[in-house]
Amino acid sequence: MRKKTISGFSKLSKVGKIKWIVENFFKDPETVKRELASYLLVNEEQQRILDGFSENTISNYPLPLGVAPNFLINGIEYCVPMVTEESSVVAAAASAAKFWLDRGGIQTKILGTLKTGQIHFLWYGDSGMLEAKQKELAAYLIGVCADITKNMDERGGGIQHISLLNMVDREPGYYQLLLELDTQDSMGANFINSVLEKCAQVLPGWFEKNMNTEFPAPEVIMAILSNYNPECRVLAWVECPTADLGEFEGVLGPEEFARRFYTAVRISHIDPYRAVTHNKGIFNGIDAVVLATANDFRAVEACGHAYAARTGKYIGLSKCSIHKGIFRFELEIPLAVGTVGGLTTLHPLAKRSLEMLGNPDAPTLMQVIAATGLMQNFSAIRSLITTGIQKGHMKMHIHNMLLRLEATEEESVKALEYFKDKTVSFRDLRHYLSEIRSVVVKN
Ligand code: MEV
Repeated sequence: MRKKTISGFSKLSKVGKIKWIVENFFKDPETVKRELASYLLVNEEQQRILDGFSENTISNYPLPLGVAPNFLINGIEYCVPMVTEESSVVAAAASAAKFWLDRGGIQTKILGTLKTGQIHFLWYGDSGMLEAKQKELAAYLIGVCADITKNMDERGGGIQHISLLNMVDREPGYYQLLLELDTQDSMGANFINSVLEKCAQVLPGWFEKNMNTEFPAPEVIMAILSNYNPECRVLAWVECPTADLGEFEGVLGPEEFARRFYTAVRISHIDPYRAVTHNKGIFNGIDAVVLATANDFRAVEACGHAYAARTGKYIGLSKCSIHKGIFRFELEIPLAVGTVGGLTTLHPLAKRSLEMLGNPDAPTLMQVIAATGLMQNFSAIRSLITTGIQKGHMKMHIHNMLLRLEATEEESVKALEYFKDKTVSFRDLRHYLSEIRSVVVKN
């Protein structure tokens, strides 16, 4: 039996890694080798940059970069870059943006930009005494970190607040230092973690000097940023007189549409099964922009879902109201993103995505992302309560299926025309293609 484990893999050259992989895990090593090579960038310098993002890289994994035009946000026009593998996401965002473009566009407001970091430690001394000195401790830690925070302070950011949380009732000896930080236009993960580790390093010394020495110094368990950033939050909304929503597909009047829409959003506040799908739809849009701008989509998702469960029950992130004839739809969501540092300026296409957005600062990017999530959600609910999503979804998906069935351009044109007003499945499409192919062969 061939051995499929290896030590020292990371030390092999890229060629060596590929050789080992294709020979051990593929039936046709030469074809796979060519295929992996075909996805490498022609520009070797850019490939070197991409390779530097991760480890053990053997090729690139391309995803489509699309754009959703016609976003009017606070009166400014945007064309939004979106990276997603799911068909119909970009089309849906673009269609909702166009719908609201004709109704005054999307409004947004930043509700906060603070991020959080934590130092978790155990200490068994007099908590009253510690609490009495917490301001002193906070001032000391801010001073100790001055070297790290100097540049950020100069840009108007840095450590904004440090609080001590006493959690000994939940775990013996457990305290937390909770830091609130402003990282300006950077996502700030490295900055925050450097600050936290510095604080953790000097914490025992401060205790020795300032607290009753009969108790041993605190034991720091860990120091790390929190990806839960409810104070880094943005609100996006659209509103118009209900009557201006217009007729849907000629069958649903605006009042009826608004009522069904409102009920669909309400259901996401009642039923967690629906809430998860509802929010997944929001993240279809959010993740796509987060990815296009090389931000951390895992952090944004984790935070968004925790926020959706902030009341102890997981609910939909958006809200709808119909009041005095005004239809309003809004999304309030925490979004910790950056527009400088990290990969945002290293990834060549992320750089272009940001340029497409007018090189925004972080709060502006938060607003664009929230607006995209809102539009994605609007589009999904509009489809769900009217035609159902399959019609639009399959219309886009048919292109993927045509590719899989190796349809020629001519066959694709015929198939698209034929299925224009029909629900299409893979089986139907395969059958249709075999029919037209047999006609061609017979002739
Ligand atoms: C599909 O990717 C997303 C939707 O399921 C979202 C929703 O149901 O609201 C259409």
